[in-house]
Amino acid sequence: MKASLKGKEKVNVLFVCLGNICRSPAAQGVMQRMIDERGLGDRFYLDSAGTYGGHAGELPDRRMRVHAQRRGYNLTHRSRRVTGQDFEDFDVIVAMDSSNRYNLQEMAASVEEAGKIIMMGDYIRHYQHYDHIPDPYYEGAEGFELVLNLLEDACEALLEELVQAN
Ligand code: 4NP
Repeated sequence: MKASLKGKEKVNVLFVCLGNICRSPAAQGVMQRMIDERGLGDRFYLDSAGTYGGHAGELPDRRMRVHAQRRGYNLTHRSRRVTGQDFEDFDVIVAMDSSNRYNLQEMAASVEEAGKIIMMGDYIRHYQHYDHIPDPYYEGAEGFELVLNLLEDACEALLEELVQAN
């Protein structure tokens, strides 16, 4: 993580995937629960967005909501597209795969803004065959379970690093 978070009163974290109806709203929900469980609610603000705006205004994909709900996550985020303003408003921008990262890098207005982009896959510790969060949209139930397993793993390491950096 390049962005300097030291001493910031609140760290703003944006999770980004393609449609903002599967992976990134799930990442937001998983991370928010970890933050709440650890009593860190005052220190972090989370949001999510997609590089593609075709699902703007929609709740997360029903399959994602069903699988998340089984683990106790209630996903109520409304899909929105990433904006240029997000690069100013957020301290850390977390891409789910390299395609998301490429699209984000294309949008960044400066080296400083591009430096806010990190990869969720870099925080996966227990699923060694994965270096990104695979798009579940055209997959079956196991694809959604895999996304949640990877996110629960990666969010733990990411939150540790964010807490240390702040
Ligand atoms: P997400 O999944 O990027 O994890 O939200 C997708 C959602 C929608 C589409 C692709 C992936 N789509 O092509 O509409």
